Amino acid sequence: MPKLVFENIDGSEQIVEAPVGHSVMLCAVEANVEAILADCGGACSCATCHCYVEGGVFPDPDPIESQMLGLVEDLKPESRLSCQLDVTDEMDGLRIKLPASQG
Ligand code: FES
Repeated sequence: MPKLVFENIDGSEQIVEAPVGHSVMLCAVEANVEAILADCGGACSCATCHCYVEGGVFPDPDPIESQMLGLVEDLKPESRLSCQLDVTDEMDGLRIKLPASQG
């Protein structure tokens, strides 16, 4: 099973088992990653699952995700909503950084 590395703003890490097909958000919530609140449960309507992922790993955001990203604090080019990112085997070891605003 792939593992994801969640990196907090203070540099601390949490390594999480990530079943293929789960969203990155769900993996974080099940592992109690505190910075991923996911208030809407994955409906792409709260933006409290904001994270940073280097480009090219996931398909580009769809228009709804892009619109919601416009609402986040600490927006960066690599900003994504983790509820919209599905885990695949190729993501083993992927590092996901968490924004200060959710720390
Ligand atoms: S969980 Fe609400 S937008 Fe991702």
